[in-house]
Amino acid sequence: MSETSSLPWATAPAAGNAIGLYAKWTPALDAKIDAALQRLTQANIEHGDGLVQSSSLGVEDMVITDLIARTGLPVSISTLDTGKLHTETLGLLPKIKDRYGFDVEVFNPVADAVIQFVTREGEDAMYKSIELRKACCGLRKMEPLGRMLKGRSAWITGLRREQSGARGDVAFDEDDGQGRRKISPIADWTWAEVWAYVEKYDVPYNPLHDQFMPSIGCAPCTRAIAVGEDFRAGRWWWEDSTKECGLHAKS
Ligand code: ADX
Ligand code: SF4
Repeated sequence: MSETSSLPWATAPAAGNAIGLYAKWTPALDAKIDAALQRLTQANIEHGDGLVQSSSLGVEDMVITDLIARTGLPVSISTLDTGKLHTETLGLLPKIKDRYGFDVEVFNPVADAVIQFVTREGEDAMYKSIELRKACCGLRKMEPLGRMLKGRSAWITGLRREQSGARGDVAFDEDDGQGRRKISPIADWTWAEVWAYVEKYDVPYNPLHDQFMPSIGCAPCTRAIAVGEDFRAGRWWWEDSTKECGLHAKS
């Protein structure tokens, strides 16, 4: 059953950062942290070098990177730089290096394919139709994802059940439909718990989260959300769609 909820903007202070707005340590959180660390350790035992963290550099993924650092395990971290990310998002790469000593491997789209697409359809193609938006996601995310996962048997994601109705049944460890395991170690964490962890362990995070962007993707396809709106309302907001780019489409 979905645990989706809209965010408590109406009760939020008039000003403040994301930690001040959302962080709330819960009685369950210590056990959830231990369980997440255990899932990462188990995934490393089962997959070894076949395991990679797929990080969007969003706050959930930053928490997972922090958890990985705490395990001390040699888990690779990769990100898909679509060429359309905010500078604030890319600014986390040196912060991860400074804080944890991790080099995040960056996967880019094929330059020729992007140039041809933009020349043919325009820089704003994503707003013209769902088909063109999906074509853009295909070129900039899906194709590089395929390269990122080549030779891997499992990927770690920051999916949480609370994020949307479509994600309400995300498992901690599931088949991704492509023969790999998809591991979502904080699938059962709430938004308040994510921020409580960030506060307690001083995890670096994207400053755009302080500007009412709970879910951050590419710049042209992300906007701030308003009072009462759902968590993912700022993603592809002009579309009447499932608001998924294909990375986590159900097969
Ligand atoms: S999306 O499908 O709508 O873009 P979302 O932004 O909610 O996904 O992120 C969910 C998870 O997908 C992240 O926790 C991360 O594991 C993975 N992911 C999303 N975007 C990227 C990216 N640019 N690079 C690597 N992984 C990503
Ligand atoms: Fe293109 Fe938007 Fe998809 Fe990014 S999210 S790949 S800019 S359509």
